[in-house]
Amino acid sequence: MTIAVKPLDGPLGAEISGLDVRKITEADSKALLEAFNQYHVLVVHGPTINDDELVEFGKCFGLIEKARKKSPLSHRDDIMVISNIRQDGELVGSLPDGEMSYHFDRIHQAQPCKGAALHGLEIPAEGGDTCFANMVRAYETLPEATKKRIEGLKALNTFTYGATKRDSKTDELGPHAIHPIVRRIPETGKKALYVCRLMTDSIVGMAEQESQELLTELCDHIENTGLIYQHKWKVGDIVVWDNRCTSHARTDFSDKERRLMKRVTIGDTIPPLQ
Ligand code: SIN
Repeated sequence: MTIAVKPLDGPLGAEISGLDVRKITEADSKALLEAFNQYHVLVVHGPTINDDELVEFGKCFGLIEKARKKSPLSHRDDIMVISNIRQDGELVGSLPDGEMSYHFDRIHQAQPCKGAALHGLEIPAEGGDTCFANMVRAYETLPEATKKRIEGLKALNTFTYGATKRDSKTDELGPHAIHPIVRRIPETGKKALYVCRLMTDSIVGMAEQESQELLTELCDHIENTGLIYQHKWKVGDIVVWDNRCTSHARTDFSDKERRLMKRVTIGDTIPPLQ
């Protein structure tokens, strides 16, 4: 049986059915990669799977990278645990609490990751949704004058460990990378906007005020013009996203509720293309 791919009712994403995530065939893997390139975000509903199975699922889209931090909740060093759960006062994972602003994973690296697959294991009753912005549409829907204005520009992207909002970042220049603010996706030849509220700090060679105003204009366009799919998690869901042409964010949730997610990070083979 082949898998079914049904576009979501929104500006990006598709739902996958007819897939046995515990036994992925070569044909499934090929169909998943095609759908990933076309829809940018794929949603698979249940069942919960173990860490080895999550890694096998992730491999349909590329090579799996190591997690930044190993967790006591996984025997593997390529599983990133994202959770607010504490054991003996110590966090078991990363990115524990509340809202997160729009970002691209690892955009502060010279070769950012191609994607990631996130698996929901414990979900709060309210909030903790993951939101995805279609950055191809974001580019395509810019006014022509803005497209001209940003042509060939590059931006500085920085990372402050643990910062989930722009104003919680430190001034100190930590890990950083300069990338084109419009990148081309090799498989489709399409252009995607490549800036985000959390990690893009400034436009290279532009005066500070002008750079901040332009970044704010671009981020407002990304976040407020109907380009978002908001995923409300159910236990067992897996969502995989193309980190080259989507940015993502998380809605707030109560610190009284547990949230436990496991992620695999899918590596890229080339840096962003202009
Ligand atoms: C992430 O940015 O990878 C985490 C998203 C989430 O916790 O929903």
